[in-house]
Amino acid sequence: MQITFAAPAAVSTGAWVVGATTGGTLLPAAARADKASGGALGRAVKSSRFTGKSGQFLEVLAPAGLKASRLLLAGLGKAEELDEKALEVLGAQITGRLLASGERSASIEIDPPKAAKVKKGEIAAHLAFGARLKSYRFDIYRTRNLDEHETKFTALRILTSDAAAARKAYAGLDAVADGIFLARDLVNEPPNVLYPAEFARRAKAKLSRLGVKVEILGEAEMKRQGFGALLGVGQGSARESQLVVMQWLNGKKGGRPVALVGKGVCFDSGGLSLKPGGGMMGMKGDMAGAAAVTGTLMALATRKAKVNAVGVIGLVENMPGGDAIRPDDVLKSLSGQMIEVLNTDAEGRLVLADALTYTQRRFAPKFVIDLATLTGNIVQALGFEHAGVFSNSDQLAERLTAAGRYTGERVWRLPLDPAYDKMIRSKIADVKNIGGANSGSITAAQFLKRFIEKDTPWAHLDIAGVAWQDGEQKPMIPSWGTGWGVRMLNRLVIEHYEK
Ligand code: BES
Ligand code: MN
Ligand code: ZN
Repeated sequence: MQITFAAPAAVSTGAWVVGATTGGTLLPAAARADKASGGALGRAVKSSRFTGKSGQFLEVLAPAGLKASRLLLAGLGKAEELDEKALEVLGAQITGRLLASGERSASIEIDPPKAAKVKKGEIAAHLAFGARLKSYRFDIYRTRNLDEHETKFTALRILTSDAAAARKAYAGLDAVADGIFLARDLVNEPPNVLYPAEFARRAKAKLSRLGVKVEILGEAEMKRQGFGALLGVGQGSARESQLVVMQWLNGKKGGRPVALVGKGVCFDSGGLSLKPGGGMMGMKGDMAGAAAVTGTLMALATRKAKVNAVGVIGLVENMPGGDAIRPDDVLKSLSGQMIEVLNTDAEGRLVLADALTYTQRRFAPKFVIDLATLTGNIVQALGFEHAGVFSNSDQLAERLTAAGRYTGERVWRLPLDPAYDKMIRSKIADVKNIGGANSGSITAAQFLKRFIEKDTPWAHLDIAGVAWQDGEQKPMIPSWGTGWGVRMLNRLVIEHYEK
């Protein structure tokens, strides 16, 4: 879908999208459309339940007196509540309807309501961002009935009296959308296609041409350096484990970087502690943390963010087999701590342990944030609405919470506490990889905390409930990979770490 910005002009083809606020007040473009159509819009409002609330729409097809093929009146809700996030949702909802409509093109003309807090250009840019996110498709594996999935809708014009400001604001958002689409693609790819080496290859191909330095460590190198925990997880797989290190250094020269670490389990069968069939479905998405880290680096590099950022992702496949690690095995982690593995399905924390140690020792980052589809327990606690955040830093947790509120990728803080740490004491080694029957997300976070050195500010995001969504639901989210995390991490960088 092509998105352009232009000054308001008569709409000579396709759909003309206009707005009304709560109470049914037509904004100027809508009033013009009403007049030009001989009052058709106003009459349609009267004979419908349309009140201008957000989420409401009204359509007039083939309006007499107009060249536009349809009028789409969008409810904006209360003008004073129209913020960036609401505009993105609106752009997505409009696009959802246009995609289903059979139209080939549309012009959105939503005048800034007087009470709106957002500037003209920004309004247009955030509408466009929501529209682009909604236009995402993943159809490369369909070979039949393509017309059912094909979208005719290919051209979206946003009419605004400040097109220059809109283009400028949209450039940054478009870069974020690129990162989100990459993350979604990586999550959606099946695991026979996207195994660790293929993920690494794609990360390198996509990022190095943007100026990101990308290094790939294979098993021999990791073995030499002592990545016993990560390599243990990949041991039962025919596919080679990989560590990918991505550096975007465009901030203060020599300044400590912000660090992102991702869990990249390309398929999680559970290993010898095998998952039941139902629970194994969807475990191609167990690399969503790594995908979000890769997507965020793409967003930062594409918009040439003035920040030093590093991304480190541990890529493995967790499989059963004659070579696989056993429940009862003890692994020596890169940190030197010995880990008793009592359940091979608690593998994500093993991968992250070594990736966290490596990141801290090599980069001495300002802070480190890890993203991981770590526990089913977080889905029980927070459902699909919030990711869990665990942190040793109130400041970092608060900044993440604020970035989540702004972008709509929300997080909810859960506790760390020595009382939970007791639950992962091992009878024979330094730590065991499972806690008890309860508070599984917290004991997983306590496990990771044992690999944080010298009080490095750290936050762990458990994204098991938000990284993919099944079925048709929300305006902004496609079915399956959501690309969760790219938007809110990009926002965190803009707000606090870009000079
Ligand atoms: N990848 C899973 C967590 C998961 C579950 C993500 C459901 C998305 C949906 C993780 O590796 C796992 O298996 N965790 C176990 C831990 C347990 C064995 C301590 C879990 O949550 O059951
Ligand atoms: Mn698992
Ligand atoms: Zn897993």
